[in-house]
Amino acid sequence: MLATAVADRFELVTVPPRRGVPSFAEEVGSGLRATPMRLSSKYLYDEVGSALFDAITRLPEYYLTRAETEILAQWGWQIVRMLDAPLDFLELGSGSAAKTRRLIGEALRLQTQLRYSPIDISSEAIRASSLALVESFPGLSVRAYAGDYFDVLRSCELYSARKMLAMFMGSNIGNYEPDHAAELLTLLHDALRPGDGLLVGADLKKDPATLELAYDDPAGVTAAFNLNLLARINRELDGTFDVRRFRHVAAYDERRGSVDSYLEARAKSDVAIGAIGMHLSLARGERIHTESSYKFDDEDLIRLGERAGFRSVSAWHDDARRFTVRLFVRGS
Ligand code: AVI
Repeated sequence: MLATAVADRFELVTVPPRRGVPSFAEEVGSGLRATPMRLSSKYLYDEVGSALFDAITRLPEYYLTRAETEILAQWGWQIVRMLDAPLDFLELGSGSAAKTRRLIGEALRLQTQLRYSPIDISSEAIRASSLALVESFPGLSVRAYAGDYFDVLRSCELYSARKMLAMFMGSNIGNYEPDHAAELLTLLHDALRPGDGLLVGADLKKDPATLELAYDDPAGVTAAFNLNLLARINRELDGTFDVRRFRHVAAYDERRGSVDSYLEARAKSDVAIGAIGMHLSLARGERIHTESSYKFDDEDLIRLGERAGFRSVSAWHDDARRFTVRLFVRGS
């Protein structure tokens, strides 16, 4: 096979936000006016936040990434053989990690060419990870989509002549409220064809102490990741949060099955946010909700997939049964 130049095997499609989608400033305004106060977790990932999240994935307490990598290292060969080759891949997230590499490598043992379509909000992240992948695998071509998952799935034709394996890894699904997660999977269902696959990586329910430690590490990296959101408001929206007057709190709500992250005022705090002309006063102990990280059991995940029209086919777990990777097939 004649390898084509890296640049010829990479294409980036930029998908602008739909009209009416609120900006960071608008969401900060409405979230801090709401009771209880909340900020969307999608805003945790500016450049600083993304670097901190990368550091989180290497923390001893944050077992999720290692557990998922263990599953794919052990079972990747079997996962790609569950659907008939040749396959193309679609991924929500930009797959810079060893995990996507592993599956691409396994698929390219069964077929000579593979098309990979990652979707990610950050065009820089998606460009860097795609080019690195294309460079490593001569049989790989990438058509990357820079945009919000919902916008891309609603507006782009993701048609592939081959069977598609869509991937939503890293327990990213857990950062969506259940109805929103079902809505996203339904969009994915509508973008796929009968018989196409969906691979979901999800963190499993377990004892609260293990979960809370994973989201509040003693080194304070997760705290820095969460507090960066206030620093981001200061940087981008002319805010006056005194970040030292806030602390990170992670609490497992067993009823909902979610580890909730908050920013809690250590002392009474008066804050101005210049860009939106907002003044607010937080009492000591008052909290801003910044993230839900839902945990699943096998049944929860099967039901979620079924709600969106997928049928569960098979599942894999790490040896310590902390994490699962489950394969669904799109029904007709
Ligand atoms: C990206 N996402 C799956 C992470 C999680 O586990 O919810 C984000 C994270 N927040 C704190 N630590 C990691």
